Amino acid sequence: MRNFDQFTITQAVLERVANAPDARTRQISEALVRHLHDFIREVRPTQAEWEQGIAFLTATGHICTGTRQEFILLSDTLGVSMLVDAINHDHQQAVTESTVLGPFYVEGPPEQPCGSDISGDLPGEPMFASGTVRTADGTPLANAIVDVWHSDEDGYYDVQHEGEGLVARARFRTDEAGHFHFWSIKPAAYPIPHDGPVGKMLQAQGRHPWRPAHVHFMIEAPGYEKLVTHVFVAGDAYLDSDAVFGVKDSLICDFAVHPAGAAPDGRVVDRPWCELTYDFRLNPVSNAASRAA
Ligand code: BEZ
Ligand code: FE
Repeated sequence: MRNFDQFTITQAVLERVANAPDARTRQISEALVRHLHDFIREVRPTQAEWEQGIAFLTATGHICTGTRQEFILLSDTLGVSMLVDAINHDHQQAVTESTVLGPFYVEGPPEQPCGSDISGDLPGEPMFASGTVRTADGTPLANAIVDVWHSDEDGYYDVQHEGEGLVARARFRTDEAGHFHFWSIKPAAYPIPHDGPVGKMLQAQGRHPWRPAHVHFMIEAPGYEKLVTHVFVAGDAYLDSDAVFGVKDSLICDFAVHPAGAAPDGRVVDRPWCELTYDFRLNPVSNAASRAA
């Protein structure tokens, strides 16, 4: 077959990928070709615009390093990450909602005893964070692994400061009552990395790069779906315009401010401190498997 035009080329490519031995590869390839060709037919790019698109994707690849993943940022800012999350975690009323992982998670953070202060020498408003991890019916889950990480009061993560050790991130383990607690400082809102192609794209689209202040949680317990989520600070100016579309009402917490004095764990704080408290509920693995089937 030859002599394809704008009306016959799509069918020709579809026929070419129809022989993919793996059924899922075939399905994905066919959908990709159909949607991509329809996109091109709708947009009708000039040759120069097509070259610009290729240059954008090339730059997106070039800026990626071990600690900078521009393609994930692209997926996040185009709402694709949250779409994938929504498809894979259709919300069950009784369990905690999930949201984006983001690029600042570090595998295997050091485990610390509950009550530790993970803020190192960072300045900021003291934050007492506590919570429980439970099943959907409220049964406490002991020994659940709770990874936490968050930005400092200037909106930066430890990994964004070269040579800084791990701060404002740690792993805790729930006790018999499914409870954990730790001290840190209150995180601030921050712009996602916007000094690369994704930043240029946001600018061209008339968008800001800010995320509302939040604390990340990743919670694992045997027999339950891994929960990747955040707890957002109520009242943040960016809750309705999160650059990566990750905010859900159920994940917003008051971060109540208390005057100087004794905190729930007995620690005496010499200045006002805020409190994050959240009851996390996990979905059994069997529910996830049966929804996928
Ligand atoms: C984050 O919350 O750490 C994040 C998520 C998506 C893009 C950039 C940062
Ligand atoms: Fe974050």
